[in-house]
Amino acid sequence: MTAPPPASNPLAPPLLDAQGRCMTYLRLSITDRCNFRCSYCSPASWGGKKDLLDAAEFERIVSVFARMGIRRVRLTGGEPLIRPDIQEIARRLAAVPGIQHLAITTNASRLETLAVPLREAGVTQLNLSLDTLSAETFRRISKQGDFDALMRGIDAAAAAGFQSLKLNVVVMRGINDAEVPALVDFAHARGITPRFIELMPFGQGTPVPTAELLERLAATGRTLTEEPQEDAASPTSGPARYWRTTGGRVGFISPLTQNFCGGCNRVRVASNGDLRSCLGGRAQAPLHQLIRGGATDAELAMAVRRALGDKPEGHRFTEAGNGATLLPMMGIGG
Ligand code: 5AD
Ligand code: SF4
Repeated sequence: MTAPPPASNPLAPPLLDAQGRCMTYLRLSITDRCNFRCSYCSPASWGGKKDLLDAAEFERIVSVFARMGIRRVRLTGGEPLIRPDIQEIARRLAAVPGIQHLAITTNASRLETLAVPLREAGVTQLNLSLDTLSAETFRRISKQGDFDALMRGIDAAAAAGFQSLKLNVVVMRGINDAEVPALVDFAHARGITPRFIELMPFGQGTPVPTAELLERLAATGRTLTEEPQEDAASPTSGPARYWRTTGGRVGFISPLTQNFCGGCNRVRVASNGDLRSCLGGRAQAPLHQLIRGGATDAELAMAVRRALGDKPEGHRFTEAGNGATLLPMMGIGG
């Protein structure tokens, strides 16, 4: 597969992949370390890398992507809020011309003190990871962390005035699946949209198909109406499908039962600075190395375009023996 013909200016939008999909959304992992040890997240790289990018290097990468048409950036990890310079990173990235949305995915453990400073730094959206309302189940899933601090963090986020707040729940059979209705109510009571994610095969546990969760929610007496899907080209569109119900919206992310790759608008940069065109793909452009080697913006843009020329049509998590490397979640950030 060949890349789209490089425009005379490689920095000029649109940023297209080999399938002609227009990339508007960048996921940037800023650390592969985490203060939790969730059972479903990769245990492969707990050690943590010393060689992370600094705030100025992230700003450089995001500026290049913004010139190429990226409008939305999400910071992921590991746990992005364990970086001591998270406020500086947020402030610099929010100020990059062209970036309209700056989101963070976090486990909420540090939000009690960071929610307001991050909002002030220009973060527009938070996705909070919370799988259970029980301190005991939380310890079983995450091994570490202070459940009460997490709850205070979520309340601080709810009060801080973000444009959008979502609660990500990874559903595991026999562990937290019975809590789905209670988690919907918990989120809606705080103005947060809950989203239930089918467990992907990175660690332990059994997934629960989205269709089963919808049936279970309907069995509690709620009416559920599916919302029309957003235009895949919109920088805010993602893999979640949303339903309207009493009290608000409920989202479902179904990597196993609904392949959403056709509408993929996202590019990923891992915490070591490697551009990865797909979660199920191989490392393809060593952006950190290129920056340290003195690459110009145009050279970085060319490396990005070349790598995206190889972006596969879809992940192949569900096909056996396809030869694709299934990368651990840690350091890519979903
Ligand atoms: N399956 C589904 N989602 C996962 N996440 C991490 N590991 C998995 C997995 N195996 C998601 C969680 C977490 C975010 C950082 O990544 O939702 O909130
Ligand atoms: Fe940390 Fe999130 Fe992975 Fe849990 S799922 S270990 S909170 S990065």
